Amino acid sequence: MKPRLRKAVFPVAGLGSRFLPATKASPKEMLPIVDKPLIQYAVEEAAAAGITDLVFVTGRNKRAIEDHFDKVHELESDLSAKGKDSLLELARNVLPAGCRCIYIRQSEPLGLGHAVLCAQPVIGDEPFAVLLADDLIDAEPPVMQRMAERFAAEGCSLLGVEDVPADQTSSYGIVVPVERDADVTPITGIVEKPEPASAPSTLAVVGRYVLTPTIFELLADAAPGRGGEIQLTDAIARLLAKERVLATRLHGRRYDCGSKLGYLEATLEYGLRHAETGEAFRRYLAGRGR
Ligand code: UTP
Repeated sequence: MKPRLRKAVFPVAGLGSRFLPATKASPKEMLPIVDKPLIQYAVEEAAAAGITDLVFVTGRNKRAIEDHFDKVHELESDLSAKGKDSLLELARNVLPAGCRCIYIRQSEPLGLGHAVLCAQPVIGDEPFAVLLADDLIDAEPPVMQRMAERFAAEGCSLLGVEDVPADQTSSYGIVVPVERDADVTPITGIVEKPEPASAPSTLAVVGRYVLTPTIFELLADAAPGRGGEIQLTDAIARLLAKERVLATRLHGRRYDCGSKLGYLEATLEYGLRHAETGEAFRRYLAGRGR
């Protein structure tokens, strides 16, 4: 039987310090791109990949995420009474059909690896996806859908990767690919945030992973790495000694919405093609250029 992905982890317990003061009391993942919060784009991507169990690893100030995916009866009955059917539809469809949400707390932000480990009691002995909502990826078919299909064929861990400019390697986990230019390639190593001079390649891991449950035992006995955090990258490096791991190139455009510039770029592009704002926004921008 083909292995199937049913569960996804959304680590949303980070401090989001690059986006202060906006993230002082509310989560980075609730920042909207036009009218939809980042976390909803990630959830829709997971649902498009056939994933049904959405596991959010949350921390302080993250309650807005739980509220977002809940039903709001007052809002729905108000919109219904006023005949605002399209808004009602939007409010009702925040959580994709057939999906359910599970919330786990990470009591301290001890790193992405630690956040993933917090999900173990819910994930159990199954493969799972990890999506970082601040990497917004505009792709058709959606990135996780392609990764889930590849997982069904290969049954091993997969990392979404993208070529980054050589001077940016110190912001990413960088892989050592067997085949430099292949669409999908086994990797033989991975290093967290190497300086450009020592980076083994420019293929960077972006916020999409499919992992086998072996990762949990490696995370459980991981020592704090870079920045004193339990790094997912370090556990993946150790996973390579046990299992095959593939890097899959993403097709599409990624916006790093954890950074202000990436967020503004995404807002611009999504605003330009939004059914409600697109045309008027284009006219506004053209007018500014005069
Ligand atoms: P980032 O490296 O973007 O960290 O985490 P951050 O805290 O969110 O943002 P900055 O750097 O302070 O601005 C990558 C992802 O891992 C999650 C974050 O929520 C984000 O989705 N994360 C990180 C956790 O869930 N827990 C952690 O301890 C660290």
